[in-house]
Amino acid sequence: MSSSSFSVTPLRVDWEKGKVWYIDQRRIPFEEVWVETHDAETTYRAIKDMVLRGAPLIGVAGALGVYLQAKRLMERSVSLEEMRNNLSSSVELLKKARPTAVNLTWALSQVREVLEGAHTSEELLRLLREKAQEIINYERDVCVRMAEIGSELLLRIKPDLKRVSTHCNTGALATTGPGTALGVIRWLAKKRDILVWVDETRPYLQGARLTSWELLKEGIEHKVIADSVAPYLMSKGLVDAVLVGADRIARNGDTANKIGTYSLAVAAHRHGIPFIVVAPFSSIDFSLRSGEDIPIEERSEDEVHYVRGVRITPEGAKAYNPAFDVTPAELITYIVTERGAFKPKELEAHATSLKR
Ligand code: MRU
Repeated sequence: MSSSSFSVTPLRVDWEKGKVWYIDQRRIPFEEVWVETHDAETTYRAIKDMVLRGAPLIGVAGALGVYLQAKRLMERSVSLEEMRNNLSSSVELLKKARPTAVNLTWALSQVREVLEGAHTSEELLRLLREKAQEIINYERDVCVRMAEIGSELLLRIKPDLKRVSTHCNTGALATTGPGTALGVIRWLAKKRDILVWVDETRPYLQGARLTSWELLKEGIEHKVIADSVAPYLMSKGLVDAVLVGADRIARNGDTANKIGTYSLAVAAHRHGIPFIVVAPFSSIDFSLRSGEDIPIEERSEDEVHYVRGVRITPEGAKAYNPAFDVTPAELITYIVTERGAFKPKELEAHATSLKR
């Protein structure tokens, strides 16, 4: 059984049994319940239904889903050819689970390469396990590196930094490490006393439910605010920097992240406050020219109509629920990756040399 080594662990893996359990993020902070996945289909449902979420963790789950499927196929002693065909369909199924986070496509395209490379079923299973483990380790290690780079950057550009604002949940629940933007915040909190303004992040409430839960566990001072409050705080001089994650970054620096990120960036720009995106290098999709090309997921109206099963809109009302928005590059001060902090414009200039 293996898991990440931070105070919050979103997954547990039993490689031998071929099972992965995810903490059910729909039920935090009210209950800590684990949901079992044992093949591609159960993994697909867990991603689609938001048992787990957050771009890096979605990619990890995709790779694990294919491993679990391979494990099931081995129990049925299928041929290498059958195994490849079946796993190829699993890759396609999993890719459809959520469209915006590039991490899923990124992880699954690596898995697809593995499918081509093996000579026996046993070898294929072993290589899929190694690939999934490699992605788990990568997502953990890059968080630590980004936390170091991002915290140093912020203390350099804002030596008096005391209060930061963040959106959605970009922490240990969304990754296999300490988090992306929240990882930087964790590192800042080790170096000085800070206050974190946590946007509640309607409609799914990742900030109010998940980020607050993580920060409480670590004793980091924070206040949950309604999404519309942050610009007011900025106007009062109560925000020194904004830190967010990313689901996909186009090569011109335009960044898709949780709905509400764009309005935060507009307000930060208005008030001259650094707006920092923290994301692994794998979140940059160099095939996309600009944010216009990023697919934006639309989720069920019911996520807007209901809060914990209680309807909050009149029967008959319609709702609209885009899950992400795109922040134009010109509103972003820095993009922090494990390879360094870049001005968004630098990405395009270095597109060829920076590609993995
Ligand atoms: O819909 P979600 O909860 O998966 O959206 C998550 C976000 O938008 C995060 O900010 C992003 O994935 C970065 S997580 C490290």
